[in-house]
Amino acid sequence: MTTTQDSPTAAGSGASASDAFKASKERRGDAAVAPERVDAVVSAILKGVHDTIREHQVSYPEFQAAKAWLMEVGETGEWPLFMDVFVEHVIEEVAAEQQQGTKGSIEGPYYLPGQAKLGSACTLPCRDDEKGDPLVFEGQVRALDGTPLGGAEVDIWHADADGYYSGFAPHLPEGNLRGVVITDGDGRFTISTVQPAPYQIPTDGPTGKLIEAAGWHPWRPAHLHVMVRAEGYRTVTTQLYFAGGEWLDSDVAEATKPELILDPVDDGTGTRRSSYDFNLEAL
Ligand code: DHB
Ligand code: FE
Repeated sequence: MTTTQDSPTAAGSGASASDAFKASKERRGDAAVAPERVDAVVSAILKGVHDTIREHQVSYPEFQAAKAWLMEVGETGEWPLFMDVFVEHVIEEVAAEQQQGTKGSIEGPYYLPGQAKLGSACTLPCRDDEKGDPLVFEGQVRALDGTPLGGAEVDIWHADADGYYSGFAPHLPEGNLRGVVITDGDGRFTISTVQPAPYQIPTDGPTGKLIEAAGWHPWRPAHLHVMVRAEGYRTVTTQLYFAGGEWLDSDVAEATKPELILDPVDDGTGTRRSSYDFNLEAL
């Protein structure tokens, strides 16, 4: 696509993702890391770098190019994008080893807290002329023993039909295709929205340039993000994908799981409906 002042750029989405990350300090609850742990983990990372240099006979010009690239990632604010695309899925995999209930997936860089609270049967905030096939996403939030969790929060956010997220693309209204849906007394929710498009990592920034230089592709399959919260239960952060969707088998962020694939069915009116239940683990 052509880049105009109003359309998203890597520098724009990178900088907004960095701002969102800085603003999330309290929610993240960063750990104070013990010196022994810093020593063990950082030594292992450096050993991996040193071994790679020896194995691949990395040259001085390549070393300098890497330094320039690392600086550019920082200057454009793309570290949250880069880390969430290439690293977060393994952090999630390790966390998941201790977890039961609905499978998690990466949060990614585009979550924004404090969205509009919506009733259990709702339409996500969208533009009057919002493009995209109508999609209804419904289901129930339950405890592992099957108890329905009324009053739970299904905090949902997703890209629009062009693959852009509100809050990270200047042409989109704030809060577009985002909302905190409160389940009814029976733990149920019915969310009307539009089908998101696959997401492309911005190609004009350093992450995009690296992807191109390595001959990889910059795509994630279309997905819905959800963070499901209920008092007394572990919050589930995950993503839901669409059966048959492009890039499902080659997600650049490696964040798909077979348990997280929706298969929406046309209800005869052109609206595609899909049901998915969330199972939360008691704390
Ligand atoms: C990135 C974007 C996403 O929409 C996502 O779900 C995960 C990662 C990214 O650009 O880093
Ligand atoms: Fe996403």
